[in-house]
Amino acid sequence: WTVDKNVDNLRNYPQITQSTQMLIRNEVVAFPTETVYGLGANAKSDEAVKKVFMAKGRPGDNPLIVHIASRTQLDELVEDVPGQAERLIEAFWPGPLTLIFNKKQGKLSDLVTAGLETVAIRMPDHPVALCLIQESGLPIAAPSANTSGRPSPTTAQHVKDDLSGKIAAIVDGGATGIGVESTVLDCTENTPVILRPGGVTREEIEAVIGEVRVDAALKNKAAAPKSPGMKYTHYAPKAPFILVDGNLSFMQELIDEKKLQGLKVGVFIAKEHENEIKADYILAPGTSSDLYTVATGLYDTLRKFDELEADFIFGEVFPVTGIGEAIMNRLLKAAGHEVVKQM
Ligand code: TXA
Ligand code: MG
Repeated sequence: WTVDKNVDNLRNYPQITQSTQMLIRNEVVAFPTETVYGLGANAKSDEAVKKVFMAKGRPGDNPLIVHIASRTQLDELVEDVPGQAERLIEAFWPGPLTLIFNKKQGKLSDLVTAGLETVAIRMPDHPVALCLIQESGLPIAAPSANTSGRPSPTTAQHVKDDLSGKIAAIVDGGATGIGVESTVLDCTENTPVILRPGGVTREEIEAVIGEVRVDAALKNKAAAPKSPGMKYTHYAPKAPFILVDGNLSFMQELIDEKKLQGLKVGVFIAKEHENEIKADYILAPGTSSDLYTVATGLYDTLRKFDELEADFIFGEVFPVTGIGEAIMNRLLKAAGHEVVKQM
């Protein structure tokens, strides 16, 4: 099937009606959003939410994002919507911005929020996601639909590779667009704090509400992150992955050194550099002049190195502006913060 952009035209597709019934029966269903595929469950049900943690192998202290399709749903779940959050909702919902609010008691399974007094909420900008939420009439808890620690899924095949046999269904809506997860912003503080950089950039947020803070843990890996999920290793390919902060001849020396050891070397690089380097597997998801192209192909590229069975992977350092902030956050996490710097 091809996904109709109009939610109204999707309602009667069997993929939607069957998945809606599964969600209502507290089964877990993977579906596309504009960022990555999510693994959805009825956020009101302990039974359903438990299945999400089980299928992903996700630690129980890492809370889930609740997905909604209307403003009324937000007011049912949270204590208050601060003025700044109001303006961000106006500007970016539906879209890749998750906001943290003080939660109302007794509205959601406590497992969703992992015992916190706050709840993360977003309204996704994808017709399939919106249709499932509307038709089920439920708030849908949905983490990325990968096995915990693996790169997030941007195609239905990625979800299948990780979770086949562990979940009730996957709604295939093709490849997701943005390719990195939503930005997580804590609005319970006077000056909002970015807990995870993502699809909406810091610059875009600051254009609406003025200066925001960035969680110290994102800059200094020793600090304890406020977003529990940010403390776990993530997105990592199976082979050792190291970022290279230097020019191409420096990178080539590092590659040649590994090749002398008989290793199959992979390189994650910008398109404009792919012909200037020699390695066993050269994967270039996009170009530095349009970083959104790198974001779109980021996770698929990390997964490809696993399929190719590279023994060692080097990655280029991308500019940390705009969406580059999210790209470098994910690459640094995938590399366990290992960066070799040219002297
Ligand atoms: O784009 C996305 O956000 C995707 C799609 C499926 O919507 N979802 C996603 O969910 O990335 P997940 O579970 O993989 O990441 C949720 C992040 C985690 O880092 C988690 O710790 C944080 O949000 N989070 C959730 N609730 C929180 C809370 N109450 N306070 C602070 N951080 C929270
Ligand atoms: Mg995730």
